[in-house]
Amino acid sequence: MGRRVLVTGGAGYIGSHTLVALQEAGFEAVVIDSLCNSSEVALQRVQAISGKPIRFYRGDIRNRKLLGQIFTENAIHAVIHFAGLKAVGESSQKPIDYYQSNVSGSLVLLEAMQAFGVKQLVFSSSATVYGSEAPVPYVETLQTGRTSNPYGTSKWMVEQVLRDAAAANPELSVALLRYFNPVGAHPSGLIGEDPQGIPNNLLPYIAQVAVGKRNELSIFGDDYPTPDGTCLRDYLHVVDLAIGHVRALEWLADKSGAEAFNLGTGRGTSVLEIVRAFEQASGVTVPYRLSPRRAGDLPAFWADASKAKCELGWVANLGLEQMMADTWRWQSKNPHGYGAVATNK
Ligand code: NAD
Ligand code: UD1
Repeated sequence: MGRRVLVTGGAGYIGSHTLVALQEAGFEAVVIDSLCNSSEVALQRVQAISGKPIRFYRGDIRNRKLLGQIFTENAIHAVIHFAGLKAVGESSQKPIDYYQSNVSGSLVLLEAMQAFGVKQLVFSSSATVYGSEAPVPYVETLQTGRTSNPYGTSKWMVEQVLRDAAAANPELSVALLRYFNPVGAHPSGLIGEDPQGIPNNLLPYIAQVAVGKRNELSIFGDDYPTPDGTCLRDYLHVVDLAIGHVRALEWLADKSGAEAFNLGTGRGTSVLEIVRAFEQASGVTVPYRLSPRRAGDLPAFWADASKAKCELGWVANLGLEQMMADTWRWQSKNPHGYGAVATNK
């Protein structure tokens, strides 16, 4: 098996953790990232963790010329494709940007892979492709596509494109990884999630309240049909998720076709349970206010992750306590993310 992997969006949250996992598993990484939602500092930190170099190309995946240059200059055998826009709310305001980046970007990448004979692809999909009607736990055989926002639809569309491309070309093998709710950070505290502006997601918001950047958390709805009235989600540690990409790469080596895999723990945790677990791990109180429901939120979903266990040999090993402790270590060492250099240097 070849060992050189192109990682699109490698400077981002999940990409940077996956780079560490790839290097630990003996792969060489080449990164393309426009840095539209990330910092090059993340790549420097990855290199500090692994002690190994990363070849970095700053640019957009829709830049055909740059992709051609990357495939010419590096003997790439597989691609892990993270690059794209991911803010659900913003996708409804700027749908064209989302389809451009996520769908057109994937098409340009796929064309370049075809032109240069690269046949293995791991794609970042999302549990959001199951839509609002699916029964829990979500299993890969459920119908997908009843998405409720352009972000989710863009992920679903790319899944269809990749299935069609793999059906037409038996040499192509694709893993569609449907992530549930990635949280946490590398245990070194050197890399983590660094949202721009007000965080949309729960854990970055809690962490910013804990570090004093925000006054209080709003808990969106406590009248859901769940044990404590707050929503249930399947939170998984980003380090486990990163390892899932390595397992998927290894699985792709002798496969053809496109296969979807849920990457989650198989357990649902409520918003209030998360707040308590975070407080316990950090020793910091997180003030919160019970607020109205957020439009578009589902009461509860979690993964049936048995396919990933059987076929990829992957399970999520790290528990809630570790997720919270690592989130706090990252946030407290880097209160301003990568923007201002950390206190731990
Ligand atoms: P992120 O924003 O931290 O990382 C994405 C990276 O891609 C960023 O570094 C950004 O600069 C880069 N990028 C965006 N558009 C680009 C383009 N056109 N060309 C080149 N680079 C570009 O996001 P993340 O949380 O690491 O997510 C990675 C992938 O996983 C995304 O595709 C996202 O939709 C998907 N995903 C994320 C989650 C989650 O909760 N974080 C859940 C499900 C799926
Ligand atoms: C959101 C996206 C989903 C994406 C996922 C990635 C929506 C509708 N869905 O899912 O497409 O794949 O992120 O992780 O945005 N919460 C609060 N207060 C906050 C923030 C969140 O109470 O300030 C609650 C939410 O109501 C939800 C839970 O925390 O119940 C998790 O929220 P979030 O982290 O945004 O993830 P999802 O809503 O599951």
